[in-house]
Amino acid sequence: MERRQRLEQMIQIAREAGDMIRQAREAQDFSHQYKGGDELVTEVDVAVDRHIAAAIDHHFPGEAKLTEELAPDRSQLTEKGPLWIVDPIDGTVNFAYGHAHVAVSIAWAIEGEVQIGIVYAPFLDELFTAVRGEGAELNGQSITCSTADSLERSLVATGFPYARDKRAPLIRRLNHVVHHCRDIRRNGSAALDLCHVGCGRLDAYYESVSPWDFAAGLLIAREAGARTGHLYACPDGIPEELYGENLLVAAPAIHQALGDVVRAADAGKRLELD
Ligand code: IPD
Ligand code: CA
Ligand code: CA
Repeated sequence: MERRQRLEQMIQIAREAGDMIRQAREAQDFSHQYKGGDELVTEVDVAVDRHIAAAIDHHFPGEAKLTEELAPDRSQLTEKGPLWIVDPIDGTVNFAYGHAHVAVSIAWAIEGEVQIGIVYAPFLDELFTAVRGEGAELNGQSITCSTADSLERSLVATGFPYARDKRAPLIRRLNHVVHHCRDIRRNGSAALDLCHVGCGRLDAYYESVSPWDFAAGLLIAREAGARTGHLYACPDGIPEELYGENLLVAAPAIHQALGDVVRAADAGKRLELD
């Protein structure tokens, strides 16, 4: 199947998932649970994961899937064959609290390279899409990242893991970054953060996240002209495009400066303010 046909099919699947998410919020009748200690998961996350996985199996039989809730087997992150990477609800806490900043994220990779990414925000009816080498779009209109060229005038997003004991080094980073940028956002959906870098609603984003959080959004940001990469060299054995530790995605002219600030925070150095 051609990539454009795949994209159309993926859009249909994401819209169905979006309908489920909207209906679940209207009905307000879903259970909450916790996985791994403090990570919230609702029965809607699981139901949407199941729906998307079944739709992929139906339309693309035999292709491997990595889905956050029901098939989170990271050993699939290799440079082999086709792989689907799915986050049924990115922004679960937002979903549970009634916020609009929620997305379905679906990526399709071949040999470790993401070919198609889609991120659909059902409460905003915003659909971000990208096909590798063909640019990125929001609701069918081409998007480009911001032209920010000064970190001091840049809006930067990040996030924090659910595990509270992992937050201290990130607070150190935040403490550095907030002194060097215009302001910080913590919007609660990594997939949308990346798309928002792609369309200029943010100038930059850094975080460590899981493959399903960022695989689609990273392609969208890059196809929109953002510079994508990592704060540090990636380990061997996992394709870079599927490695979520220390991501740094920004308007090209501020990528280096933001990276320097975050690395200085990690090293315990103070960068002089301009
Ligand atoms: C979370 C969101 C959040 C990020 C967390 C992710 P979830 O995904 O993307 O912005 O900071 O690290 O786990 O749990 O809502 O799918
Ligand atoms: Ca997520
Ligand atoms: Ca999720």
